[in-house]
Amino acid sequence: MIEKIKQTADYIRSKAGNVPETAIILGTGLGALVDHITEKKYIPYTEIPNFPVSTVEGHSGNLIFGRLGNRQVIAMQGRFHYYEGYDMKEVTFPVRVMKQLGVKTLFVSNAAGGMNKEFRVGDIMIITDHINLFPENPLRGKNYEELGPRFPAMTEAYDKRLVAAAEEIAAKKGIRVMKGVYVGTQGPTFETPAEYEYFRIIGGDAVGMSTVPEVIVANHAGMKVFGVSVITDLGGKDVTDVPTHEEVQKAAEAAQPYMMEIMRELIEREG
Ligand code: HPA
Repeated sequence: MIEKIKQTADYIRSKAGNVPETAIILGTGLGALVDHITEKKYIPYTEIPNFPVSTVEGHSGNLIFGRLGNRQVIAMQGRFHYYEGYDMKEVTFPVRVMKQLGVKTLFVSNAAGGMNKEFRVGDIMIITDHINLFPENPLRGKNYEELGPRFPAMTEAYDKRLVAAAEEIAAKKGIRVMKGVYVGTQGPTFETPAEYEYFRIIGGDAVGMSTVPEVIVANHAGMKVFGVSVITDLGGKDVTDVPTHEEVQKAAEAAQPYMMEIMRELIEREG
């Protein structure tokens, strides 16, 4: 695994030159951030040795290097989901490579279903913590000390200073933001009403099918993480809404400009 990580990082360095310290995983809702990246260089995933290849509709696969405001960034356009059939090592491989490239801070975004009764469709939720309900932990198996400790703490999986900074930016811009706990599940089913209820009772505010594996590996590697969800649907005992992929995409697109505003300034300031 170490050899593969190094090989992939060497390839990327040979294509991209200087690699920045800030990385972004552009999930649903943040795709348009790409339009704000200037001096762009694309590396399709298909050309990167050892990289899995993205399969899902609406997720194109490229590594993008460029400038976001005053910052050099590396962005993943398209991520690998567990529900697509990748194993946890594949899902998190790009984060391993980022670390090898010298990335210090990771920004992630996703679409999620809201269980918190205060939430509305289109809300932006700053992730303050997560509950890992994936059937497997990406760190299962042999630990490589050079990548991180055997038993890493997850006490501040989402950097508190970045959370506070994002809140401040949102307040300044007059954008409504919520904060909450993200429950990560394997999908690809959306939840039954009882499952949404269960996730709320155990302390979740929103649920989705990504992010948690990458955030675990980023923390293992000593990276700082900031995560944000767009609430694209609501679930619970009394909710009659039937979520669809189209509805999720549409709600995420509607919230995108706000999410982008926050992310852009946060990355410029703190990235
Ligand atoms: N559940 C799980 N994943 C999701 C949801 C949801 O309701 N909405 C967007 N991604």
